[in-house]
Amino acid sequence: MKTQTLEIVKSQQLKAKPSAGVPFGTTFTDHMFIMEYEEEKGWHDARITPYSPITLDPAAMIFHYGQTIFEGLKAYRTEDNRILLFRPEKNFERLNLSGARLSIPPVDEEQVLEHLKTLIELEKDWVPAEPGHSLYIRPFIIATEPNLAVSPSKTYRMMVLLSPVGPYFPGGLKPVTIHVEQEFTRAVKGGTGMAKTAGNYSSGYQAQAGAKKSGNADVLWLDGIEKRYIEEVGSMNIFFKIGGEVVTPALSGSILKGVTRMSILEVLNSWGVPVIERRIAIDELYDLYEQGLIQEAFGTGTAAVISPVGELNWGDKKMVINNHEIGELSQKLYDTITGIQTGRRPDEFNWTV
Ligand code: COI
Repeated sequence: MKTQTLEIVKSQQLKAKPSAGVPFGTTFTDHMFIMEYEEEKGWHDARITPYSPITLDPAAMIFHYGQTIFEGLKAYRTEDNRILLFRPEKNFERLNLSGARLSIPPVDEEQVLEHLKTLIELEKDWVPAEPGHSLYIRPFIIATEPNLAVSPSKTYRMMVLLSPVGPYFPGGLKPVTIHVEQEFTRAVKGGTGMAKTAGNYSSGYQAQAGAKKSGNADVLWLDGIEKRYIEEVGSMNIFFKIGGEVVTPALSGSILKGVTRMSILEVLNSWGVPVIERRIAIDELYDLYEQGLIQEAFGTGTAAVISPVGELNWGDKKMVINNHEIGELSQKLYDTITGIQTGRRPDEFNWTV
């Protein structure tokens, strides 16, 4: 790793910290990280500055063809006042995977992690201590070249924002009702589904609005070709407990490689719980449901960690899962992962730094 200098300009006017329970992603700390890319210089001018609006040329390519990628991870405060990051190297590894898909030049993963640690050290008083709270970290890269040509930008900006957050679901873990989406698709194999890029999220809003109208909290995404194989739920990966075995869709090229997903697979393996990554069709799920074999279903992601699914509505067919109650395994996984993240449980996997 070449050590890149990091200039730090401190804010002269620190903001008041929000009270507990602030809505997700609405409050930001005093400082942010910025770094620039130009073809001749590579990534350079890494700096921490006071948090502020930025100025971009209206022709900046991000605005026109959506050349952008992002990440999401969290910092947690332990009871003995240490600050822990959960597997941050996985996020920067994925940032570069997403970047490859969106033709965005790679960053030095170790270097940006060092810069992130410096930013968090500066902002450590912003890491909330309340149970279920954390500091959400949003690294992202945008194409900045002012040019309407349909081709990759020659210049980019990377930024990292920090946002103190309460639990993603303020009411606590509560099984949600989900609409199985049959019209719209999130992603297709060969598309951008495995990348964390803006369009994968905004292209889901129309389906999500339809789901909400019919009384569902979100959608279950099926594959884009046969509209049959289960992919993700909302903006999360999905797991099912079926007859004592845990099943999650295999990474097919259109599914995001979630850090929580991979951690859950590793925890289940360490417990000796049978777990399999495979294709699972919605009609197969329904057959298993009719046989009484679907014991639990849950989404996994950084923001919510675990979100139990209490009901799946597939056309006129309804699957009520575990009587709308939180499953034992879902709860145990939530307690284990959040326990490691917050230092309440021993980190036998060495995931926290
Ligand atoms: C997650 O962390 O689960 C997400 O993908 C949601 C995030 C984009 C807010």
